[in-house]
Amino acid sequence: MNLENKKIFITNALPYANGPIHIGHMVGYIQADIWSRFLRMHDHDVVFVCASDAHGTPIMLSAEGLGVEPEELAAEYTRQHEMDFEDFHISFDNYHTTHSKENEDLVKEIYKKLKENDCVRTEIIEQAYDDKENMFLPDRYVRGTCPKCNEPDQYGDNCEKCGATYKPTDLIDPISAISGETPSLKESEHHFMKLTLFNDMLEGWIETIDIHPSVKSKLKEWFDVGLRDWDISRDAPYFGFVIPGEKDKYFYVWLDAPIGYFASLKNLSDKSELEFEEYLKDDSDTHMVHFIGKDIIYFHALFWPAVLEGAGLKKPDAIYVNGFLTVNGQKMSKSRGTLIKARTYLDHLDPECLRYYFAYKSSSGIDDFDLDTEDFRNRINADLIGKWINIASRSSKFIRDHFENKLSESIDDDLLDAFNDETGEIKELYQKREFGQSMRKIMLLADKANQYLDQEKPWIMIKNKDEKEDVQRVCTNALNMFLKLTILLKPVMPEVARNVESFMNLSDLNWSDITDAIKDHQINDYENLLTRIQEEDIKRIIKQ
Ligand code: 2FM
Ligand code: ZN
Repeated sequence: MNLENKKIFITNALPYANGPIHIGHMVGYIQADIWSRFLRMHDHDVVFVCASDAHGTPIMLSAEGLGVEPEELAAEYTRQHEMDFEDFHISFDNYHTTHSKENEDLVKEIYKKLKENDCVRTEIIEQAYDDKENMFLPDRYVRGTCPKCNEPDQYGDNCEKCGATYKPTDLIDPISAISGETPSLKESEHHFMKLTLFNDMLEGWIETIDIHPSVKSKLKEWFDVGLRDWDISRDAPYFGFVIPGEKDKYFYVWLDAPIGYFASLKNLSDKSELEFEEYLKDDSDTHMVHFIGKDIIYFHALFWPAVLEGAGLKKPDAIYVNGFLTVNGQKMSKSRGTLIKARTYLDHLDPECLRYYFAYKSSSGIDDFDLDTEDFRNRINADLIGKWINIASRSSKFIRDHFENKLSESIDDDLLDAFNDETGEIKELYQKREFGQSMRKIMLLADKANQYLDQEKPWIMIKNKDEKEDVQRVCTNALNMFLKLTILLKPVMPEVARNVESFMNLSDLNWSDITDAIKDHQINDYENLLTRIQEEDIKRIIKQ
């Protein structure tokens, strides 16, 4: 995949604005942020956006339950999410919402094109209806006994016990999850996207994009079963955009959500130099990348490209999928105390420690990974503090105490060049989003720097007057190695890297600065860059 001279448009899945985000959500945001920062450090033209996913039945019902308007609830969660992202140093260039004028205009424009291109049809369908609440019930809001295995209290779309999938109308003794009443059946005309028309196009297209082989095989399974037309409408009451020409019908949230990527970009273009239209054109020099969780592959790799194709717009160039996060081997669950809200983590621990741990655990694949809290604590203390930060704290004190914070004029070029030689592979691993492998390689380099100090022993040399100059050189070499490691870690640890920049009296380090050695240079007093994680800190984020 050649990204040279491309304008890279990166998105993260839009979080639903009806609840707080947890650290499982953060996996995808952190991965996308690391990649975006890495590309920016290579002077790529990157635009990285997100927004909140504001529409749909759950948010409408939550708002109703709280006695507030859905707009209000969405705005409040949007605000909270933005703060969480900022505090985790997610460097979005823009954060917007799907409940916006930009999105409404784009949705209507795209829908118009889909209609013109004969990609939409209507059909009368029969659906579960709650007569008490006067509303059609989405599948998830009908509960009853599984028709296959007789397990009680199952959702209307699939059984958690036996895995069977069915229609809500197939459930035995169905009830509405909203009113508890038995639903009736009612007819309504719905709008369908003719997905079947796009089967061949999609099968060919997935061969042309950057997508992990395991995602591709999942998609192939779906092609084998055959795609079915997609219901893109919902009846009132619904929180969303009204379908033009209709009164009580709305676009389904999953039609307008990915269009929200464009809405956020459009919103950014209105306040910057960015040329929005360029990113939508099929023949453009742009590269569109979506980072998503593995539960929403269907929407991004089938529905979304079909909508884009149908509307004559550019389709994604890459879809990067992450797996789920478990905590101490368990699925995140409120009752087990393993659901850690992003804010709870931030209240007690350093965001960059989680960024490092997630990077360490990440690959380009879609496997789930575990936050083992003991391993997390050990990994941070051993790698970040014990290896990386240790180099600076060990060597800077000699430079401060004996050389007035001045680095030596002479350095060992061979030693530092050998270090530089290793960084090419790390760059490649970053580019391929093999962050775990790049972290391991970086830590091997940190080991080398520590071994160098262990061998040279500046704490012994300093006692010998004749060797004083050598101490300055050895510590300058070590600080150069520390600086290179900091640049290598900067996409993952941006704030610590910024503090290293001020400590070393430098600014805006880019990837290309790795090969520059600093010498005869004034630095500042070393101040603590990162603190060890204690057992109590972990206890505070996990409810006992
Ligand atoms: O699954 C989710 O959390 C959705 N809110 C993701 C939407 S991504 C995009 F399509 F908007
Ligand atoms: Zn069942």
